[in-house]
Amino acid sequence: MENKELINIRLNDGGASVIILDQTLLPNEEKYIELSSADAMFEAIYSLRVRGAPAIGIFAAYALCVFACQIKTEDFEVFYSEVLKYSDYLDSSRPTAVNLGTQLRRMERLVKDSSGLPVKQILEAMREEADKIYNEDVEMCRAISEHGLTLIKNGYGIMTQCNAGPIATSKYGTALGPIILGKEKGMDLHAFICETRPLLQGARLTAFELDRAGVDCTLICDNMASVVMSEGKINAVFAGCDRIARNGDVANKVGTGGLAILAKHYGIPFYIFGPSTTIDMDCASGAEIEIELRKPEEIKEMFYIKPMAPKNVKCYNPAFDVTPNSLITAIITEKGIYKSFK
Ligand code: MRU
Repeated sequence: MENKELINIRLNDGGASVIILDQTLLPNEEKYIELSSADAMFEAIYSLRVRGAPAIGIFAAYALCVFACQIKTEDFEVFYSEVLKYSDYLDSSRPTAVNLGTQLRRMERLVKDSSGLPVKQILEAMREEADKIYNEDVEMCRAISEHGLTLIKNGYGIMTQCNAGPIATSKYGTALGPIILGKEKGMDLHAFICETRPLLQGARLTAFELDRAGVDCTLICDNMASVVMSEGKINAVFAGCDRIARNGDVANKVGTGGLAILAKHYGIPFYIFGPSTTIDMDCASGAEIEIELRKPEEIKEMFYIKPMAPKNVKCYNPAFDVTPNSLITAIITEKGIYKSFK
């Protein structure tokens, strides 16, 4: 399987900086930016220049390598405490996707376990670990795409939410993986892409990726999902995930839960795709998941020439919602297809 590949995250110059595809500029501009300061890396995550749960985790691992290179000490304790400080700072950039914290903890553990080694050697081990995180995600996304392909048939109409494609991961994507793979195998598939207000990841990113992969796709406003389902055009809903609780409840981009309710009403299977790194075994249910609240300007001003709501009107802008396990037909990870969450 080979999409016309965009390498969205890579370590530059042995750890001097990280280069990312700036996702805020898509689909109009494919621009790579180089980041080396803590504030620029924090901002890149917060502003969604790099986004999607697996991609944020990979980026954070590389970002930690860059920071570790900037620590000027040979003393392990000083080095380790600086790494922890920077890791905590990055971890506070967005709260909902578990991958960010999971990959940062993995890097922290590696440093802790390297106590006694020269700093130069620890830096090398950190770069190797970050590459491993990247490569493991490539393998997981590939396996997810292959499992997902078994759920679809020629002629299927598939509804998507947000963006869970190659640029939200290392490569291949999760929820978009089976669609892109199916297209490569010559299947006739049609994607109905929910635009995903307020940040338009569906319109800007999913439409960009699927169009580039040659998939027949149609963009709809979020509030048109019910009409399209009622017209019999949808055979399955495919969505990604930011955190899967132990009981199978799933946090994903706001609007996902609404689609699950609609899918149940219309008798349409509702599938969640994600690598096992998105499962949070410390989280008993969706009620424990912190939902990120974002700025009102994203609703009132962004993407409009002029503000489109009165200046003083209040806005509520949760970036994610939780879909209860009872509305999910199956969760697909690299390990297989899970249909029962009891
Ligand atoms: O706010 P975003 O764009 O980072 O939200 C992303 C999503 O909700 C994705 O569906 C999820 O991270 C899975 S990406 C493979």
